[in-house]
Amino acid sequence: MVTMADALEDRNLANNFTNLGLNGNYNSPSNVHVEIRLHKGVYKSDVEKQRDSIISRILTSKIYNWRPFNVYKELDSLVSKILIGSAEIPDGELLNFDGIEAERIHTHFYSVKDFGGLPHEISTTDDEAVGSYQWEIPCKEFEELWENLIFADNIKNELLAYVSALLQLSRLDANTNILSMNRLVLLYGPPGTGKTTLCKALAQRLSIHQNSIYKRSIFIEVNSHSLFSKWFSESGKLVLKMFNQIEELAEDPKTFVCVLIDEVESLTMGRNASFQKHEPSDSVRAVNAVLTQIDKIRRFNNVLVLTTSNITEALDAAFVDRTDICRFVGNPTTHAIYSMLFDAIKELQRVGVINREQEVEPFCNWDTNGCNDESKCLWNL
Ligand SMILES: Nc1ncnc2c1ncn2[C@@H]1O[C@H](COP(=O)(O)OP(=O)(O)OP(=O)(O)O)[C@@H](O)[C@H]1O
Ligand SMILES: [Mg+2]
Repeated sequence: MVTMADALEDRNLANNFTNLGLNGNYNSPSNVHVEIRLHKGVYKSDVEKQRDSIISRILTSKIYNWRPFNVYKELDSLVSKILIGSAEIPDGELLNFDGIEAERIHTHFYSVKDFGGLPHEISTTDDEAVGSYQWEIPCKEFEELWENLIFADNIKNELLAYVSALLQLSRLDANTNILSMNRLVLLYGPPGTGKTTLCKALAQRLSIHQNSIYKRSIFIEVNSHSLFSKWFSESGKLVLKMFNQIEELAEDPKTFVCVLIDEVESLTMGRNASFQKHEPSDSVRAVNAVLTQIDKIRRFNNVLVLTTSNITEALDAAFVDRTDICRFVGNPTTHAIYSMLFDAIKELQRVGVINREQEVEPFCNWDTNGCNDESKCLWNL
């Protein structure tokens, strides 16, 4: 059986993914997303008329990948933000639009929901608990997460390209026995490295990019840890109930469902580890329930499951085997830390807390010899 990873590593096959945004040509992207966020109450049709003028303005401007584009005066009353990016170009790099085909500029109009995560309870005969929080996305809370995440490598774009390709292939009804696709992603690594934030930011991008395919998108955050510890003897049943809720939503083919299982290790601890420690068989039942349920929701091509973990040793091998993407998210490098501090300073300058005259230079046009004193000071922090 060919896994997606094998397939994408194959050069010939990867070349066929050009129209999915995976062509790897760094200088000029073949696919660009233009995300246009509308003010509350503004209709898409009001702004759609100006699409051509917005695009021609963009094509003649200096735009850095996934960095917001300043909305111009005439659009101020309709549009609150424009974000432009391509999964083929590293984050923050200057976009070169030479030769880009008009139909490869994907324009997405959207507005955000501004209610936070709504608690969803699951009950057993003994008790009830908040099993998950649900957001209708794109939502206000997840805005700007993507732009503010800075990684030393190109993980954001790799993930976006890969997951978009997975979802597109799923919609084409590709045979999952030939192309192994579970729409299951695992991000693992040390605490506080941005795994959860990246999942939320990715879900927000996908909901915007797919808004002409799906009528609505739901983000479900499952706190597996608290669920498991509180109802230890009932965890198998709770897992079942949780996934039934997901399934109910997924049954509507016009809804995109993105599930986040944070700290997945608490639900999928290796069954061997459990046996060795003579732990009650409930943990084994819970692992089995999770695996069975993942296999069940595999049937739905509108469901994506994102999982995170701080550890990998104790994760169930059968679970790791099912993932399409298993990616390490490491501690930020000095360059990434510089960029995070730079963004924070810029924001403080924008709101007037820090003097705007003290110009700190962005990392991309900066070198240790030629930079100004403020930048040197920040680098040496
Ligand atoms: N690479 C990064 N760039 C910008 N901000 C980051 C980065 N990594 C972490 N942060 C910030 O640090 C905070 C913690 O991030 P987050 O909760 O996503 O980490 P995590 O990897 O899920 O941690 P844990 O493993 O403990 O759950 C967030 O506010 C996030 O924005
Ligand atoms: Mg986390």
